[in-house]
Amino acid sequence: MFVCSCFGVTEAQVKKHAEAGACTPRQIASACKAGTDCGSCVRRIQALLGRGACPSREPAGRTVPALAETALAEVAPLEEAA
Ligand code: FES
Repeated sequence: MFVCSCFGVTEAQVKKHAEAGACTPRQIASACKAGTDCGSCVRRIQALLGRGACPSREPAGRTVPALAETALAEVAPLEEAA
């Protein structure tokens, strides 16, 4: 089944790119151009990625604390210097 009719990209192709590491519609576009013409397929691509097509995607709850820790580590030296 076609996801992107402008470039003839199928659902299977999007899943294959996702398995290879493309986890955002922009990365899918870089891999196969899907979504870069009329854009009407971007929501379908987002839906596919949101349904676990990308195995390397971290659960949302795991990435937020990691970012918060990084931000704190960057701020702490500035507070010590002041
Ligand atoms: S259907 Fe994908 S860019 Fe038009």
